[in-house]
Amino acid sequence: MEEQLKAVVPRDLLPNGTYAPLPGIYDVGWKEWMNMDGADFVKEMRRFDDSIIKENRDIILRLAPIIEKGELTLEQLKLWELENFLTVDSFPVKIVSNVFENLENREVKDIILRHTSEEVGHGELKADFLVRAMGLDRVRDVWHGKPLISKRINFADPNPAVDELRRASPPLAYATIPFCERSLPILNQIMGRALRKVYGFPDGVLGFYDLHTYVDIYHERLGLYIMAKYGTNARVRELFRNAVEAIRASHVEIYSAGYQALKAK
Ligand SMILES: [Fe+2]
Repeated sequence: MEEQLKAVVPRDLLPNGTYAPLPGIYDVGWKEWMNMDGADFVKEMRRFDDSIIKENRDIILRLAPIIEKGELTLEQLKLWELENFLTVDSFPVKIVSNVFENLENREVKDIILRHTSEEVGHGELKADFLVRAMGLDRVRDVWHGKPLISKRINFADPNPAVDELRRASPPLAYATIPFCERSLPILNQIMGRALRKVYGFPDGVLGFYDLHTYVDIYHERLGLYIMAKYGTNARVRELFRNAVEAIRASHVEIYSAGYQALKAK
């Protein structure tokens, strides 16, 4: 049956029917974007983003390097991961909200929907950690948890630089999301190590962290492909760069405020 379907749909189709919007994008070592018109732009943006991350590494990696040094008490760790749950939980909604400006673009529309489907439930994996490792009540403490700071990251919040990019290129506005996920694999590798070595948690409660050591390698690719395809003139390249700079700046501002609030606990 799978072979029959493949003959009809010239795409990667997994046994459960999951559809790959780009042939081969889930293969090991996929680098098709390098052969596309905007490849130089993608490389430049990766270097630019690397330099931003390097400058504010501890904060942009959501305190993971600090946590690995054992600087947070168990109580502070619990509050921080609860804060991160509240952020992760709204992420699929943020992604899918981009579909409405891309409905006429079949390929980008499918990429957005596939990306969304892969993020569904990740908030619950984080909740599993808070329930099973930290002893919180899923409904009372987690789903209805109180944020540490009033201005936490809410993915529904508008970002003026992203909105300006969206007016020029809806596909590129969406691409800022998977592009900025590129910092997540290393963040979660560090967290996985820290939670095991520093805090002694067993493998069985660390599903969220282990999944995110690799899944966002694939999500970054969705962004790279769209950037390489649509980032083909100086104007949209500049707007994309501004948007990434603004997104990273908002992360620094909000995670720093969270860290300060955490230290006061
Ligand atoms: Fe992701």
